[in-house]
Parts: sequence; C-alpha cells; structure tokens
Amino acid sequence: MDIEGRRYRTIWLNPDDTVSVINQELLPFEFKIEVLRSSADYLRAIRDMRVRGAGLIGATAAFGMFQAAKEAPERDWQAHMRGRAAALEATRPTAKNLEWATRRVLAAIAGAESRARLVELARAEAQAIADSDAECCRAIGLHGLELIRAIHGRTGRTVNVLTHCNAGALAFVDYGSATAPVYAAFDEGIPIHVWVDETRPRNQGASLTAWELGKHGLPHTLVCDNAGGLLMQRGLVDLVIVGADRVTASGDAANKIGTYLKALAARDNGVPFYVALPSSTFDWELRDGVAEIPIEERDMDEVRFVRGLCEGRVVKALICPESTKASNFGFDVTPARLIDGLITERGICDADVGAIKRLFPEASA
Ligand code: MRU
Repeated sequence: MDIEGRRYRTIWLNPDDTVSVINQELLPFEFKIEVLRSSADYLRAIRDMRVRGAGLIGATAAFGMFQAAKEAPERDWQAHMRGRAAALEATRPTAKNLEWATRRVLAAIAGAESRARLVELARAEAQAIADSDAECCRAIGLHGLELIRAIHGRTGRTVNVLTHCNAGALAFVDYGSATAPVYAAFDEGIPIHVWVDETRPRNQGASLTAWELGKHGLPHTLVCDNAGGLLMQRGLVDLVIVGADRVTASGDAANKIGTYLKALAARDNGVPFYVALPSSTFDWELRDGVAEIPIEERDMDEVRFVRGLCEGRVVKALICPESTKASNFGFDVTPARLIDGLITERGICDADVGAIKRLFPEASA
C-alpha cells in the first residue's frame, strides 16, 4: 500500500522481534503506527479492531502466536501455546483466517525440540503467513483485473465498481481482496471509479476504504449504505466486488452486514456480483453458510454512536434517544446462488461445491 510515497504493509516484524501495525481505529484522521509487545497487546488490538479485516486478523494472530512462543515457559510450552491460540481465536468469531492462522502456527511448532526452536519456528511461520497473504491478494488482483478489462473492452468507458466495507489493503497484509483488482486496473490505465458504501455501524467504507483509495489516487465516491439499489437501477454500477470473512465449501459468503442486500439488488438489476477471497478464508467443513457461519455480535454503542471530526477534534456523538437499545450483528451471509463468482488466488470460479473443489482439489470438503 502506498502512503505519501512510501510503501507500507499493515503489519511487519521489526529487527528487535516486536511487531508494528497501523492503528486503524484512528483512521482516517490520524496515521499512527503501534508496536505490539505482549500477548495482551495482540488480544486488545484484534478485539478493539485496531487491526481488522479477515486477512490482517489472521496475520496478527500468527504474529500473536510468535509472541506467545517468546513468552512460553521452559516446560510444557505446547499447552501454553494451545491456550494462547484459544485466547486469540476467541477475540473475533466470524473471520476464518484467525483460526486458520493459529492452527498453522500450532502445526509448524509441533515438532519443536527446544524453546529456542519453538520461537524460531513460530517466527518463520508467522512471517510466511503474512507473506502469503500479500501474495494471494496480489494474485487475486490479477485475476479480478480480467473482469474489469472485459467490461472496459465492451463499454469503452469508465468502469464503475461498488464495494462494501473495507476489503482493501488495510484488511489484509497488502493489496486487499476486493480492491486488488481495482488497484490493478487503475495501475494499468483503465478508467475506473469506485462507489464506496459507508458501511455502518463502524463506517469502515468511509474511514478506511475511502482513505486508502484516496492515498492511491483512485477516483471514488462515498455513498450511504442504502444508495446501492438506486445506483444499480440507474445503470451506474458495472460490477460489485466485496470481500469475505468466511466462505463455505459450497460458496456461501459471510461479509460485513449489508452485503446480502447488495447481492439482492445486484441480482435484480443484472449487475455481476463477485466475492474476492484468499483460500485462507474458506471454511472447508461448512456447507450451509446461513445456518452454520458464526455471526459476531458487537456492542450496541457502535450503532448508537458515530465517531467523527468536529472542529478539529475526534468526537463520538449519540444519534438516538439515550434509552434506545440497538442490535449489532457484524456480518451477514450471501447465499452462493446470488454470487456470480469467487475471485481467488488461483483464479475465478463459480460459487458452487464442484467448481471450488476443482480449483482447490487438496481441500477436504
Ligand atoms: O469487522 P471488520 O472490519 O474486521 O470486517 C471485515 C471487513 O472489513 C469486511 O467484512 C470485509 O469485506 C471482509 S474482510 C477482508
């Protein structure tokens, strides 16, 4: 990700073995890098959403396991590592990448014969997970680019893409999933414009997607969450690309609350609707996403309050009567039948069991 002429990842290992992250709770008003120094720091960063987005949650959990290895006792460190994995996994329930990452590190350290070796193996695996997340997203960009090229080739005009929430570089280690094709098209010179859903309640579209597209110089327009249907009816959307937090072996996709409604509107208006994801987001054991994907419920104050800049100060403002209660489901599930395709690091496939299996034959569905 390019920020003020400098290339950044969202998480990186420092020479002293601490880990730095961009504090996303403060964006778009403040760009601040924070150092994670203890297991408690990792748990807080994920739970409070200083880091968020499926891929980045996974990479952070992987480095959290490295931190756990550094804190491991001389004896019985396997039990210590399993306990720390469970604590990390409990922070956010919907994104599959979290558990995928902790399990990968646990598998990598299983044969460690000393504590020093444990630390070494955990460090190497965490770094490999972060690198592969970035590489998968880069590949997703190249595959998704084909869709955008085809639309531009057909229409000869600016391609309008609608996205929901932030499945951008900030949600991963780099590039993003939904935004990777958009960046690739822009970098290739294809005229492109993104409709950015604000994405209540936490407004990741407004505060994060708009911020990172702006840093890349990519034309975009912020819209309120309810605008997508009208834009599609007016022919102002050529393509919807969203990310995913967990996708079943049959192609049902959990993504930020409100995604399902965009898929319904897209189907009604004949607008192609694609979900972009690295394979680390697949949950190979699930078939029925609506029934089986765990949906995170968060604090009702995220709905009751909005955060914004007022006269130079970041403030939180109540938007309902003090006594009003709110519900706050973080995600919804878009059934595979509403998805035109899945953009993965291995290519684009239909959202159905057979097509997914053909692309990932090694996965046991
Ligand atoms: O709650 P968040 O911000 O961690 O949610 C993640 C998201 O931004 C979206 O659901 C996204 O589209 C998928 S994450 C790649």
